[in-house]
Amino acid sequence: MTDKTINKAGSVRRVTEAEMAEQRDYISRIRAILAQRNDKPKAFVETYGCQQNSSDSEKIKGMLSDMGYEITDEIDGADLVLYNTCAVRENAELRVFGNLGALKHKKRRNPDMIIGVCGCMMQQEHIANTIKTKYKHVDMVFGTHALYRFPQILDEALKHTRVFDIENEDGAIFEEISVKRDAPPLAKVPIMYGCNNFCSYCVVPYVRGRERSRSAEDILAECRRVADEGYKEIMLLGQNVNSYGNDLPSGTSFSELLKLVCRTEGIERIRFMTSHPKDLSDDLIEVMASEPKICNQLHLPIQSGSNKVLKEMNRGYTREQYMERLKKVRRAIPDIVLTTDIIVGFPTETNEDFNETLSVLKEVEYDMIFSFIYSKRVGTPAAKMPDVLTDEEKHRNFDEMLKVQNEISKRKNETYAGTVQKVLVEGLSKTNDKTLTGRTEGGKVVNFSCSDNNDLSLSDYVGKIVDVKITSVQTWSLFGETEN
Ligand code: 5AD
Ligand code: SF4
Repeated sequence: MTDKTINKAGSVRRVTEAEMAEQRDYISRIRAILAQRNDKPKAFVETYGCQQNSSDSEKIKGMLSDMGYEITDEIDGADLVLYNTCAVRENAELRVFGNLGALKHKKRRNPDMIIGVCGCMMQQEHIANTIKTKYKHVDMVFGTHALYRFPQILDEALKHTRVFDIENEDGAIFEEISVKRDAPPLAKVPIMYGCNNFCSYCVVPYVRGRERSRSAEDILAECRRVADEGYKEIMLLGQNVNSYGNDLPSGTSFSELLKLVCRTEGIERIRFMTSHPKDLSDDLIEVMASEPKICNQLHLPIQSGSNKVLKEMNRGYTREQYMERLKKVRRAIPDIVLTTDIIVGFPTETNEDFNETLSVLKEVEYDMIFSFIYSKRVGTPAAKMPDVLTDEEKHRNFDEMLKVQNEISKRKNETYAGTVQKVLVEGLSKTNDKTLTGRTEGGKVVNFSCSDNNDLSLSDYVGKIVDVKITSVQTWSLFGETEN
């Protein structure tokens, strides 16, 4: 990665109304062209990575729907295929290259098919160059910063021009765009973009730029809109939500924002991610404890239990400081459901360091962890650090950690057996259409049957909060039946 792709200045630019109007003109133009076709064109959008990326995809799908595309889950028969990529780990990148390779034959059979790649991977110069030279069947490539220009990019591609819009700019914030979300009850609302933390292993600050907060007014207006559309739960998104507002003239803090979001009538549950342990304020803990709509759930990535590794990761806290924060959270919200992220095999990690991580897991007893084997990212400081452990040792440690955590997760879930939980119903279970699925306030998945025999059909339950008696548990989910 060269300096060109790194945007350390971080001035916050807001896309002007005139610029957005220009993009809306492109949408109308494409709509008029596509309307001349006999059939409705289909667009397939596949998303990799985090919630922020799925939120971006919802904007892309919103723009595509406005242009007249039907959004499809089937790649076969799609007129437009777009991959919204993730750069956090290598395996997601390899999958994208594999999928792009497989599209070559489809494009030969159907030269009018438009193929696009966007998202975090495209903010890395070496990746964009590879696509330019080796994947010539790809028609459009654009990075996260060019998202609002998607209509213009697609307009060019439809005219059979190959488009590359990967200039690194200032990561402008834009509003006033259609969003095509999944059906209610859950809505994702981004509150900020980018990250200032530069953890030594992480590519996010390079590909997403510096922290930029949306204005509280824009966020609240979006919350109001989703409530009016029938959504019941909002997930507020940001790489580090605790530093929300630091760049805003109003200085609205995250805990202040949360209090305002809680006033949205019709919204019953509010979650947020991700919190950085170094910025988790007392104010936030207090708001979480006192606002009934804020779910008793916290995702607090620790990454490692070793102070030496935490320092080399540039995380900005020690194990002791992390534990002190957690103690405060647990004192204020005793039934909090805790999850974390762990990286195994950071270059300088020894077996002793890894044992420190195991001891943290045993000490905290998280409900669930998201664990990753370290993946070297070009341009990050950790990529230059020499490895201490072999790949085999790293994988062995990873497997051991999963074993330890699975036992803890199962044990934590067992404490729910026999209890009655308030479950927000999300839909029919994927594996059994006589069963409903939803989540507890703490975010645990519950599959359950309805024992009451009133006039409601199963789908009428979606979006409602029902009392469910937990009858059995597994490591990853709970099972139950409705309480009358
Ligand atoms: N290798 C492995 N895991 C990583 N993460 C971020 N960068 C890397 C990397 N280079 C993990 C961190 C982060 C989560 C979203 O992804 O645990 O919290
Ligand atoms: Fe990456 Fe660290 Fe920022 Fe999270 S806080 S996105 S791990 S740099």
